[in-house]
Amino acid sequence: MNISLPARELFPILEHQINGRPLIYLDNAATTQKPLPVLDASRSYYESMNANIHRGTHALARAATEAYEAARKTVAAHLGAADAEELIFTSGCTDGINLAAQVLSSRLSPGDEIIISTLEHHSNIVPWQMACERTGAILRVIPCDESGVLDLAAYDQLLNERTKVVSVGWISNAFGTRHPVKEIVRRAKSFDAVVVIDAAQAIPHLAIDVHDLGCDMLAFSGHKVYAPTGIGALWGKRSLLESLPPYRGGGEMIKEVSFAGTTYNDIPFKYEAGTPNIEGAIALAAAIQFVQKVGLAAIQSHETTLIRAAEKELQAIDGIHLYGPSDRIGALSFRIEGVHAYDLGTFLDQMGVAVRTGHHCCQPLMARFGITGTIRASFALYNTLEEIAQFGESTRRAVKMLR
Ligand code: ALA
Repeated sequence: MNISLPARELFPILEHQINGRPLIYLDNAATTQKPLPVLDASRSYYESMNANIHRGTHALARAATEAYEAARKTVAAHLGAADAEELIFTSGCTDGINLAAQVLSSRLSPGDEIIISTLEHHSNIVPWQMACERTGAILRVIPCDESGVLDLAAYDQLLNERTKVVSVGWISNAFGTRHPVKEIVRRAKSFDAVVVIDAAQAIPHLAIDVHDLGCDMLAFSGHKVYAPTGIGALWGKRSLLESLPPYRGGGEMIKEVSFAGTTYNDIPFKYEAGTPNIEGAIALAAAIQFVQKVGLAAIQSHETTLIRAAEKELQAIDGIHLYGPSDRIGALSFRIEGVHAYDLGTFLDQMGVAVRTGHHCCQPLMARFGITGTIRASFALYNTLEEIAQFGESTRRAVKMLR
């Protein structure tokens, strides 16, 4: 079955009215809405096979285990990973990066260095700061220029034989900047650093091939790609995952437990202590299959049309500042002189337009630009040009009232 865009009939929530106006949902970088195939997968799991996995001999437990492990294969294949055992289900990208930072801490010594970038989300900053606190490692930060593009010459200066980890986002959630992650990986590999990619904002927009990227780990959240909240994945190279210690202790991650000690399970189970989000994993696979049916090329082309139209709407406004380079992906961040971001966000909400205002969990990036926040419109496959025109019109009206 071919799904043609914008496929709004598959997203029941888009029929909602907000303040008596049609919902125009432009907060997709925060979370995406869920299509019927995903809602159906969640419901059907609980209606037809709910049971705990990997533990029971009964029919429901077998069905749930099979569906969960099939979901692992679907998600791994979507990332270009042939080996599904390299795919760990997590509760989201934050959980995946925390897992990476905690287990990689076992390889860090005082004076070792971890490199991140100025454009990181707090979830790709704080776990590494915590790793530094645990180990005495030092955090280094790749700077960016005025348009939000990473300074790769400065990155070269930061890299050295003490660099043990490089962890960067692929697309900035705040500005939509797409970083040259393949090149970042290539340079890090000259120093044998482990490279972690935060693909939270890439997953709904870009085709991902972990082997082509050359990274060691890659994390994302399901809810950014039309799946429920509370599920995500961390992919890691088998040899790396096998050599690192477990993350959390509990059921499923063990082979043998006695009071004298414990031996750990093989990957991926070593990293999945406790009952996982079974329904979430199955729904995530449904979301991935939905995206595959639509096609990432079609999604990207549709979203590029939307983003270009949104830029045009905003560029006409006096005192507008757009952040990030012009080839931004997924998100358009801006400020308007004389208008407080929060006031504009509140006005747009009155008009049925949902955007995010504030620091977008990127306070260091906002500090770099000397601002406290921006207004961010972010796009998904179900948005339309009519919605963008309405967003532009509402923004212009707001500016007239608020200035
Ligand atoms: N990371 C999400 C955002 O950018 C929450 O809005």
